[in-house]
Amino acid sequence: MITEKDAVIHNILTRRTIRRFLDRQIEEEELLTVLEAGLYAPSARGRQGVLFVVSQNREVNEKLGRIKKNNSHVRMSTDTVYISKEQPSIADDSSIMNAFYDAPTVITLFVPKDFLYGPYDASAAAENMLLAAHEVGLGGCYIGSAWDSFRDPFGQEILKEWEIRTDYYAALHVLLGYPKDAQAPKAKERKDGRIIRK
Ligand SMILES: Cc1cc2nc3c(=O)[nH]c(=O)nc-3n(C[C@H](O)[C@H](O)[C@H](O)COP(=O)(O)O)c2cc1C
Repeated sequence: MITEKDAVIHNILTRRTIRRFLDRQIEEEELLTVLEAGLYAPSARGRQGVLFVVSQNREVNEKLGRIKKNNSHVRMSTDTVYISKEQPSIADDSSIMNAFYDAPTVITLFVPKDFLYGPYDASAAAENMLLAAHEVGLGGCYIGSAWDSFRDPFGQEILKEWEIRTDYYAALHVLLGYPKDAQAPKAKERKDGRIIRK
């Protein structure tokens, strides 16, 4: 039985997705801690193929977040089926135009196109980063299908400006910022029947 006694377990159990951020950039030291956690994630064959591109350029982040929103064909939430009422996602609130929720820091994880395990590696790194963010008091959000954020001429220009190798693609983003709300969002109930023991 997991208890919250252990600091690592406590961190895992209390991390929640944050989409409402303060309008303030994060401290450099906190950013470096989160990045280091990403660098130390497991990677298939120990390849360490994930590239972490940090953008703290508000204008670029906003433009990419809008492109992402325009390319996201989400099924909108209902009263009973929703992602989060406390930290609404673009599926919960159609008035949100920026799929990056105005987060001051957006980290895009790029992986090699020719490597089957690229997205898995990026995902492992993202979770390490989200847990580290939570540990240092930052809020974080995982954004999947990051290639959607670059699917227009502006996005393509940014890839060139960032000097991203053409044999890499954007797998996901990790958004970071200080949580706007003092109250942490509640976790949904865990669904029954997901652990099968034989
Ligand atoms: C693969 C993956 C993709 C996700 N993509 C998005 C996304 O595009 N936008 C978003 O707001 N949240 C995204 N999330 C965050 C989930 O909505 C969130 O983890 C989920 O609602 C559970 O909430 P919790 O993280 O607070 O436990 C994603 C999470 C995962 C694991």
